Amino acid sequence: MNVTQILVTFGSSHAGALDQVRRIEPEVRAAHPGVEVAWAYTSAKVRQILAQRGEKVDSPPEALAKLQAQGVKRIVVQSLHVIPGAEFHDLAREARAFAHRDKELRVAIGWPLVSDTEDLQALARIMLRAAAPGRQADQALVWVGHGTHHPAGVAYPALAFALAQADPRAYLGTVEGYPSFDDVLGRLQAAGVKAVKLMPLLTVLGEHSKQDIAGDDADSWKSRLTAAGLAVTTDLTPVAGYSGARDLWLGHLAKAFKELQAEKSGQAKSAHATK
Ligand code: CO
Repeated sequence: MNVTQILVTFGSSHAGALDQVRRIEPEVRAAHPGVEVAWAYTSAKVRQILAQRGEKVDSPPEALAKLQAQGVKRIVVQSLHVIPGAEFHDLAREARAFAHRDKELRVAIGWPLVSDTEDLQALARIMLRAAAPGRQADQALVWVGHGTHHPAGVAYPALAFALAQADPRAYLGTVEGYPSFDDVLGRLQAAGVKAVKLMPLLTVLGEHSKQDIAGDDADSWKSRLTAAGLAVTTDLTPVAGYSGARDLWLGHLAKAFKELQAEKSGQAKSAHATK
């Protein structure tokens, strides 16, 4: 069977930003021997910056069109995003539209990191395990995710709850959504926390990690926590650097593969139908 898997990330134009997320490629190849792997980036801005530098990267529709032109009839599209937000739903819509136009083409879509409650609980455990090395005894743990206005943004407070249940000194906020910096600081202060280990809940090591979270400017999370009297250390390993997180994505990819085999031609579906 002529199958190709497309790994889809937001992307980044920062040097080395994708080193951790790219670690999933050999793992995907090992899990599905003989199946080709392609990459696509969902961020138009990132693709544009890279193109200006002569580093052309495909959008998901471009990657799908190339494979279709090569005669590939079975495609698994794996989202390497954290939550099923706008990036994921745009991707799923594009993939479905593609499969709709070609009756012989089957496309299945793998969910992002957090697709259900089990993923939330598994991810909370994975995050706590990843944060343990180098954690000082008095340190609370603070992760910062992206945040979104998309309805799927409810995943962030849900994950914060799962984290707090697993470790009362583990917190989660977001750069652009809910919970906010003030929400997290308020809880840290109410709990009498004096020291934190600050980490991103992001797939790539880009601007949000380097500036908004750990930057030296006064408005970064690190600077504001420090200004509030907390001792702060940072670990900018992206979530894609946690092997357990990559295992979650690999599990979603395996599920999409199964759907691909069960599906009728000319259709694309996400895991919605099987959840
Ligand atoms: Co952003």
